[in-house]
Amino acid sequence: MTIKLIDVVITAREDQGAGIAVLELARPSGDELPRFDAGAHIDVHIGDNFIRQYSLSGNSENKNSYRLGVLNDPNSRGGSVKLYQEFKKGQLIKISEPRNHFPLAADAKKTILAGGGIGITPMISMAYTLRSQGKPFELHYCTRTKGAGAFELELLQEFPEQVIFHYDDGGDEQLFSPEKLFLPYDADLHIYVCGPTGFMDWVINNAKSYNYPSEQVHFEYFSADVDVTGDAFEVYCAISDITVSVGEEDTIVRALAAAGVKVDVSCEEGVCGTCITDVLEGEPDHRDHFLTEEERSDNDQMALCCSRAKSKRLVIDL
Ligand code: FES
Repeated sequence: MTIKLIDVVITAREDQGAGIAVLELARPSGDELPRFDAGAHIDVHIGDNFIRQYSLSGNSENKNSYRLGVLNDPNSRGGSVKLYQEFKKGQLIKISEPRNHFPLAADAKKTILAGGGIGITPMISMAYTLRSQGKPFELHYCTRTKGAGAFELELLQEFPEQVIFHYDDGGDEQLFSPEKLFLPYDADLHIYVCGPTGFMDWVINNAKSYNYPSEQVHFEYFSADVDVTGDAFEVYCAISDITVSVGEEDTIVRALAAAGVKVDVSCEEGVCGTCITDVLEGEPDHRDHFLTEEERSDNDQMALCCSRAKSKRLVIDL
């Protein structure tokens, strides 16, 4: 599938707290951009080789610009630091059209939005949408230190009744508490979480332990430490009629590339969904953070960038 790219210009850059650059993007012509729903992200293409995903953090009713929050994260694979350090107001860049793997549930009667650090970005867009729909929600923003987060002033001005700040160094009383927020179990409550992997795992596991089914717990990982190693196995591509061996340290994507079968990838750590491919036979060993539990248990699709096989052989639809 060829991804259509859009030329945009960085119309504004504002450096906010916690090493976050807030970028505004628009078409050079000023024309409308493709519309998006809250929770959507875009791919930002950096040079020829880097593609990174960023959540759209602005109000989806704004038709002429997109807004991103870019974290200067030295632990990232390099794209974010490059974007943070090099991209300036007036620069032309290429982006994909918005895609949304993290949509709001249409039937939710109550919503808790939980953003940790840079994970606040999709939550802001969701807050604007929920407010325009007149739906009740709480917006919880967890950061290390008071005044160190981005978007704080905007959140206070726009959502004074809904936003609650939590600071790691602010004392026990104000810390984010899944127990206080999620109990007793509420069938009308939907929970959204985004942020560092440890924060997300903690919130998700708490929600699960309080019996929230996966349909009520929504998440999007920005990055993940994923172990791609394991026992060797074989992959047969049904369309290409090619069989490859995937070694203990190898990935399916790399093994296929060596055999001339190209798979579109982006994050290469199981969070973006770009490489998800149908499985026709065999049992995948899912290592990604993208598929839901139900999708994993169906075993009819998998992330080729990181997942492996429990069976000796997989047949995939490539
Ligand atoms: S490339 Fe992102 S999930 Fe595989």
